[in-house]
Amino acid sequence: MVPWLLKVLPRSLFRLDEVIELFDYPKTHLIAPVLEAHRRDFDPTSEPRDYIECFLLEQRSDPQRFTDEVLARSIGDMFSAGSDTTSTTLRWAFCLLCARPEAQRRIQAEIDQVVGTSRPPSVADRQQMPFTEAFLMETQRFGDIVPMGVTHSAEQEFELGGYTIPRGAILVSLLGAIHRDPAHFPEPEQFKPERFLDKEGRVRPSKALMPFSVGKRSCLGEAMARSELFLFLTCALQRYSFAFPAGFQHDLSSSDRRGVTTPKPFEVVPTRRR
Ligand code: HEM
Repeated sequence: MVPWLLKVLPRSLFRLDEVIELFDYPKTHLIAPVLEAHRRDFDPTSEPRDYIECFLLEQRSDPQRFTDEVLARSIGDMFSAGSDTTSTTLRWAFCLLCARPEAQRRIQAEIDQVVGTSRPPSVADRQQMPFTEAFLMETQRFGDIVPMGVTHSAEQEFELGGYTIPRGAILVSLLGAIHRDPAHFPEPEQFKPERFLDKEGRVRPSKALMPFSVGKRSCLGEAMARSELFLFLTCALQRYSFAFPAGFQHDLSSSDRRGVTTPKPFEVVPTRRR
């Protein structure tokens, strides 16, 4: 939209106020009340208990920089950067569980052996569940939800691999090209969790797996996202098995969508295990 037009045309014409309210909804209705509650019982002499308390502590020493607006926006950033990415990865995971029932059964066998039925899975179980870890790694490689990473620009000129990158150049990290490179991942079009296991069945990480990107600006939420993926998947598989509806086949290709890459639509039939 042409910005000057907004100044001369009535805002109601584009229902602009409604749009602004919609965008501000998380800030005013979700974040503001939590901030208020924190402010009420914040004790600056104790160890900060979470991100908001760390921020409030910094705010006391530099209020010009660490404003409430910056705090609300940075929390909003975490929600927007962390929601679609995590849910899309899970969508791939459930699609692949249905497409590869033998992998689903192996994860359930690990859950039954390590966790059992008397308690829900916890992050501490991850280390003892190598196949589940490998399944999630392969899901992230295969699903490749952010194939072009996030665009950056060079603050100053620098050399990389014999090339001079000029100041201001736009840099796109083609994570998808690495995830599909047979030199790193033989038969890259195949979904093979075993590629992340060694002969003894232990997790074999690969530096070429970079769904969270690499470097100083790589995903801030990686550790949290990896825990979330593990917990969602294992809690669901502890109680349910998942299958496509009878006769449905998924070709495991992705929808043609900009931004975050999703699997093509599918339905899932859950069956209670116990
Ligand atoms: C499976 C889930 C996730 C994936 C695949 C993912 C992937 C990514 C990628 C590729 C980037 C771009 C890094 C770059 O600029 O080179 C990124 C940035 C970021 N992510 Fe995630 N992310 C996930 C979950 C999360 C979660 C749960 C949070 C928050 C709690 C989060 C917060 C962020 C933030 C704040 C940035 C920007 C970092 C910066 O610019 O310095 N992400 N993520």
